[in-house]
Amino acid sequence: MFSQLHCANKIFRNLYNGEWAESNSGQTIPIHSPVDGSLIGHIQAMTKEEADRAIQNTKTNLTEWANTPIYKRAEVLYRAADILVKNAETIADVLVMEISKDKKSALSEVERTADFLRYTADVGKGLEGEAIGGGNFPGGSKDKISYVTRVPLGTVLAISPFNYPVNLSVSKIAPALMGGNAVLLKPPTQGAISALYLVQAMNEAGLPAGILNTVTGKGSEIGDYIVTHPGINFINFTGSTGVGKHISNLARMVPLLLELGGKDAAIVMEDADLDSTADNIVSGAFSYSGQRCTAVKRILVMDSVADELIKRLTDRIQALKVGDPRDNAHITPLIDKKAADFVQELIDDAINKGATLVMGNHREGNLLSPTLFDNVTEDMRLAWEEPFGPVLPIIRVKSRDEAIAIANRSEYGLQSSVFTQNINDAFYIANRLEVGTVQVNNKTERGPDHFPFLGVKASGMGTQGVKYSIEAMTRPKAVVINIEEHS
Ligand code: NAP
Ligand code: G3H
Repeated sequence: MFSQLHCANKIFRNLYNGEWAESNSGQTIPIHSPVDGSLIGHIQAMTKEEADRAIQNTKTNLTEWANTPIYKRAEVLYRAADILVKNAETIADVLVMEISKDKKSALSEVERTADFLRYTADVGKGLEGEAIGGGNFPGGSKDKISYVTRVPLGTVLAISPFNYPVNLSVSKIAPALMGGNAVLLKPPTQGAISALYLVQAMNEAGLPAGILNTVTGKGSEIGDYIVTHPGINFINFTGSTGVGKHISNLARMVPLLLELGGKDAAIVMEDADLDSTADNIVSGAFSYSGQRCTAVKRILVMDSVADELIKRLTDRIQALKVGDPRDNAHITPLIDKKAADFVQELIDDAINKGATLVMGNHREGNLLSPTLFDNVTEDMRLAWEEPFGPVLPIIRVKSRDEAIAIANRSEYGLQSSVFTQNINDAFYIANRLEVGTVQVNNKTERGPDHFPFLGVKASGMGTQGVKYSIEAMTRPKAVVINIEEHS
């Protein structure tokens, strides 16, 4: 079923009006594997004119889709979920090679995507409007009733990042479709092929032509054009804070949902269960080699338990397998050389400024060994910048207020963890942290996907999560009935 995605010579196409089509420009972008440099395929570098046509085409069946009963829209999502599950191995293998994600996590990304589709269909079916009586407000009248339904916004531009090209595409596409919108997907360049497999599953499931179109090409070349296109009615973006800010500067009077970078802190109190804390921190910091917005990106630990925590962290980090994602290594080559160079810069800066290297700092190409630093101080870049790689700084603190102050000094505000046995400390700290979510005795993480997921400050704008995403991509429509009195 995926044969239509590409020509015999691995040239992948775009979905346009229900068909897979090549760009007229003849321009393609080669996609090489970060695992071994092999060529995975080519994607189309679409021209502005083609992007324009793709956006216009999303309007063709938009009214029909918006008027399709919700349970019928849900059926398409259920079918797409079944197709994904049936083809999970194939799609996971593409993810492994395209974005260097270990096979187990790649399979879990596909399964999570199928779950997301089903749950979104369920929630979408349950959404209802309301009727509001006019007599509730002073001066109002019981003879006035506002009849409120939720209606689609139009064409949603979904822009997804490389680290979850399937799952963070569906987290935009599925709620948009349940809300009755059409979608233009701009996948990440590295990750586009994996995302196109998802799109084929959606297409095969029976979406009307044009309700889901794709535009591939470098964001730096085609991005500004699509973001400012008058045919786009909502932008749903996940990616770096730099690109997110750029988009929000460009988008005028178009609603946005931005999920951006983070510098999630794990605050460890004196009474924390250090074994469970270390398990959580290592999994939180190093899964997919730290390339997750929600990765634990700094530890703020009470000085009195820091040495004990470090022992436990070291044991667990040593057990991480470093190498090839096909062999289910935990730590795999980073997405590209630029990413690995950036992480190395942060490591070098920390060493030069006197941080204690506990373990790591070995590099082979883009494969960096898991690296742990103690005694990181506030003058070091690692204290503040998001590495998006396998390096974890420890900052020692003397009180919960000091931990809160350092946590909040970050430009980011995605999530934080607090590890403690004391419910009062947990609430004291959680109530003061400037983040979207605080996890008590757990690593920072997005799921489960029906929870609200949001960042504050430079970590984002708006709220994701199944119900919240549907609400974000629909608007209330009010019809006010004025009952006339007849004598
Ligand atoms: P990125 O470089 O910002 O790219 C994200 C997406 O934006 C890609 O599809 C990219 O296309 C596109 N893009 C680039 N320039 C654009 C422009 N001018 N207009 C429109 N689109 C443009 O981010 P990334 O490297 O893929 O992902 C890593 C970052 O994302 C990290 O900072 C991470 O924290 C963040 N992230 C956040 C969340 C969250 O939920 N908060 C989730 C995942 C990742 P190209 O690939 O073609 O450049
Ligand atoms: O990279 C950002 C993702 O939203 C993180 O999702 O916490 O499930 O890995 P995750």
